[in-house]
Amino acid sequence: MLKLGVNIDHFATLREARYRGRGFGEPCPVAAALLCEAAGAHGITAHLREDRRHIQDRDVWALRERIQTRLNLEMANAPEIVAIALKLKPDIVCLVPERRLEVTTEGGLDVVAAEKALTETRQQLNAAGIEVSLFIAPDARQIEASARTGSQFVELHTGQYAEAFLPAAGGNPRAAAELQRLISGAERAHALGLQVNAGHGLNYENLAALGRVPHLVELNIGHSLVSRAAFVGLAPAVREMLAAMAACRG
Ligand code: PXP
Repeated sequence: MLKLGVNIDHFATLREARYRGRGFGEPCPVAAALLCEAAGAHGITAHLREDRRHIQDRDVWALRERIQTRLNLEMANAPEIVAIALKLKPDIVCLVPERRLEVTTEGGLDVVAAEKALTETRQQLNAAGIEVSLFIAPDARQIEASARTGSQFVELHTGQYAEAFLPAAGGNPRAAAELQRLISGAERAHALGLQVNAGHGLNYENLAALGRVPHLVELNIGHSLVSRAAFVGLAPAVREMLAAMAACRG
């Protein structure tokens, strides 16, 4: 069964918009995570950014203590954050690129360029019992380099696929090509022994065709689900996403 990991960063973004630096405030991302779990989510994802723009250190510690499903800590390969992860012991770390000026994680990791550093971090995290995933474009060179790092997972960046569905793309002429890149990428990763997750920009509509991507273990979804939750509530938004995922797998 395709699993749903809910990215709860957006709850922290809303909280920080009003309560930055005060150590409390609503909405609480941990309470959100517990509601997602109760509605059937299989895991919770939080990105502890170096600039702490949304998720704070106290959030990840509270998540570690309170959630019952898997905790996926998204993070940059930065010494300060790696040290936190080694103490926190999330179930899995997803290494992502981080740029201060970006609105959200914009591109995939350049694993080809950073293979040695990523391998060292992968070794440290695995030695602490933490699985490792690399967030990459569905590109053969990046997938092959990811396998060489010894990581357990790749998370294929679905951002380009999702972009092809937006009104600005004028319909979706590129969607079929982007879907094919994801299919080929998933096949290549699987053949190299990597487990395959996917995420970024996925929503209730563009999910449908993703059923054609083989070997997917988990989708990580944040923005569209939290946006829907603002209208219908968090539990219904999670349940609708799970239903959309089940439908896309036929
Ligand atoms: N996966 C990764 C690695 C991400 O960085 C993000 C965005 O934080 C997501 C999934 C979720 O993307 P979205 O919020 O567009 O669903």
